[in-house]
Amino acid sequence: MSKVLVTGGAGFIGSNLVNRLVQNSKDVVIFDNEFRGSFNNISDKKVQLVKGDITKPEDWECLPKGITSIFHMGAINGTKFFYEIPERVLEVNVKGVINMLEYAIKNNVGEVLFASSSEVYGIPSRFPTGETEILKIPDPLNPRYSYSGSKIIGELFCINYGRKYGLKNTIVRYHNVYGPKMGNEHVIPQLIRKLVRKEEFVLEGDGTETRSFCYIDDAVEATLIAGRDKSVKDRIFNIGNPEEVSISSLAQQLIQISGVKVVPKYRPKEMAGTKRRVPDITKIRSLGYTPKVFLKEGLRITYDWYAKHYSS
Ligand SMILES: NC(=O)c1ccc[n+]([C@@H]2O[C@H](COP(=O)([O-])OP(=O)(O)OC[C@H]3O[C@@H](n4cnc5c(N)ncnc54)[C@H](O)[C@@H]3O)[C@@H](O)[C@H]2O)c1
Repeated sequence: MSKVLVTGGAGFIGSNLVNRLVQNSKDVVIFDNEFRGSFNNISDKKVQLVKGDITKPEDWECLPKGITSIFHMGAINGTKFFYEIPERVLEVNVKGVINMLEYAIKNNVGEVLFASSSEVYGIPSRFPTGETEILKIPDPLNPRYSYSGSKIIGELFCINYGRKYGLKNTIVRYHNVYGPKMGNEHVIPQLIRKLVRKEEFVLEGDGTETRSFCYIDDAVEATLIAGRDKSVKDRIFNIGNPEEVSISSLAQQLIQISGVKVVPKYRPKEMAGTKRRVPDITKIRSLGYTPKVFLKEGLRITYDWYAKHYSS
C-alpha cells in the first residue's frame, strides 16, 4: 500500500487533503509542528501524526519508513506573518523544501508535490495569469515578498533537484483558497469577524482591487488531479477559480449573507500589492478539473462556520 506524507497536514489545505486521501484509502502520515495548524483538525485515528519542525533534518528522521509520495504543504502562510517574521518565513519555507527534497532522495520517495502560490507572479502583466507569466519580486525591501521569494526558491529547488535525481515533482500555485478553518489572517475571515462582532467595517484599499477565490474542496480536488497526472511534462499548475471579484463586491456579498446593516469604509493600503489576481486555469482544466463551488455558495458555508467561531 502506498504511504503518503503530508507536511503541514495539520493546516488548512493540508488537513482537508488528508481527509480526502483517507477517504481514498491511503495510508497517511502528517508532519507538522502546529505553528498554525492543529492535530485537532484530524479526526481519523488511522492517520499517523508526527510533531516536528521541517527546518530540522533530525526531525525528518522521526518519520516512519516506507513513504512513497509527499505533499509538501508545510510553510509559514498568512499575510500577517510575512510582515511580522519575514526572516522566519524565508527560513521555514526554504529550509523546509530543501529538507523535504533531501529526505525524498535519501528514502527513494519518488514523487513530491510542492504547494506554491499565485504570489510568485508578483504584480502580473497579463490577466488571467497563466503559468508562463514571469516570476518576480516587485520590491525586495518590502517584507511581504519574503513569502513569494521563498516560494520562487522552493519551485527552483524542486525543478532542479527533480531533474538531477529523477524525482517526479509537481508544483501547484494556489490562488486564494478559502473555506472553514482557513485561519484568521485572510480577508474573508477578517471581514466576517467585523460583521459578527459589529466592529468598524473598514476595508484596506479602495475596494476596486480584485481577487479570485477558490473553495477548499475544489482546491483539494485539483491538487489530487495534478499529483496523479503523468501526461504533462512541464508540471506546474495554477489552482484556483477564475471567478474574479472586487473586494467591495466581496464585502457586499458578506454583508448580504450576514444581514448586518453597514456601509463599508475604505482606508489606503500601507503597502500596495497587485490590483488584480485571476488565474488562467486552462492547463489543470485540460486534465479534467472544473471548479464546482461558486463564490456565493462557498462564502455562505464559510460565513456560517466563522459566525459560530467568532460568536463563541
Ligand atoms: N491558503 C491559500 O490560499 C494558499 C495560497 C497559496 C499557497 N498556499 C500554500 O499552501 C500550503 C498550505 O497552506 P494553508 O493555507 O493550508 O496554510 P496553513 O498555515 O494552514 O498550513 C501550513 C501548515 O504548515 C505548518 N508549519 C509551519 N511551520 C512549520 C514548521 N517549521 N515545521 C512543520 N510544520 C510547519 C503549520 O503549522 C500549518 O499546519 C502552504 O505551503 C501555503 O504557502 C496556500
